[in-house]
Amino acid sequence: MEDLYPMIFRRYSARRFSSHLAEKDQERIQLILKELTPLDPKAAHEFVLGPSKGRGDVSINLYMKDREPASLLQAGFLLEEADLALEQAGYGICFLGMAKAEKGLEQKDGLVFLMSLDCGQVLKESFRKSPDDFTRNYINDIWAGEFNPEIKQAARLSPSAINSQPWQIISSADQKKIEVFRKRAPFNPIPDETMRFFHFVDLGILVSHLKIALDHFKIPYALEAVIGPEEGRLTRVAVFTLA
Ligand SMILES: Cc1cc2nc3c(=O)[nH]c(=O)nc-3n(C[C@H](O)[C@H](O)[C@H](O)COP(=O)(O)O)c2cc1C
Repeated sequence: MEDLYPMIFRRYSARRFSSHLAEKDQERIQLILKELTPLDPKAAHEFVLGPSKGRGDVSINLYMKDREPASLLQAGFLLEEADLALEQAGYGICFLGMAKAEKGLEQKDGLVFLMSLDCGQVLKESFRKSPDDFTRNYINDIWAGEFNPEIKQAARLSPSAINSQPWQIISSADQKKIEVFRKRAPFNPIPDETMRFFHFVDLGILVSHLKIALDHFKIPYALEAVIGPEEGRLTRVAVFTLA
């Protein structure tokens, strides 16, 4: 898989598409999906292409073991790598968090439907040109501690459902440890279970951006998904331990 770091600064959620995907595009998309590197290679997943559930041309439907936080984290991680790799190849992508499985396709090979990415052709000019084109929280509101500012920026630009950015990152004083937490809003009009579903996918996306940025700067690390007890406002979900 090529370096996806530059795409972190150019990606966007496509909601307008230009023309139809040819058969060879669908084959190319399948090849890109096959090359992804899951967070846990032992966790089973499957991508199935089907008719678009949004405004694109096809939907890329992800199936995982279950809808528990550990699987949702894996899903977000995979979907974001897919998002960046497909955008790098020139396709327009949009997460469809509310997408339902087509009738009769709720399960596949013992896995359950989780979420879709909408995909289609877009114009080259549609991709973002600079971090100023993103609407995101300030870096100091999401990251506590000193660290490489470019890696902080890559984390900050992560997409999330309804742009809720439900994360807190803490780097240790010696910069040898990066801890990633889910941050719950004190009040949310959306039901807790729905938010919980989206948030763990969002956190998988953030972990993917951090991994891609650390790899880009050739900083060695060990990455561990560790979902802590869901009490209070912060739940730990992952730790990067730097060499
Ligand atoms: C888990 C998840 C679910 C999403 N669901 C939808 C959706 O159902 N429809 C939609 O138009 N956008 C959806 N989005 C896109 C977000 O609204 C978008 O990522 C966010 O507003 C930030 O904008 P950007 O991706 O252009 O940077 C979703 C994003 C994520 C990460």
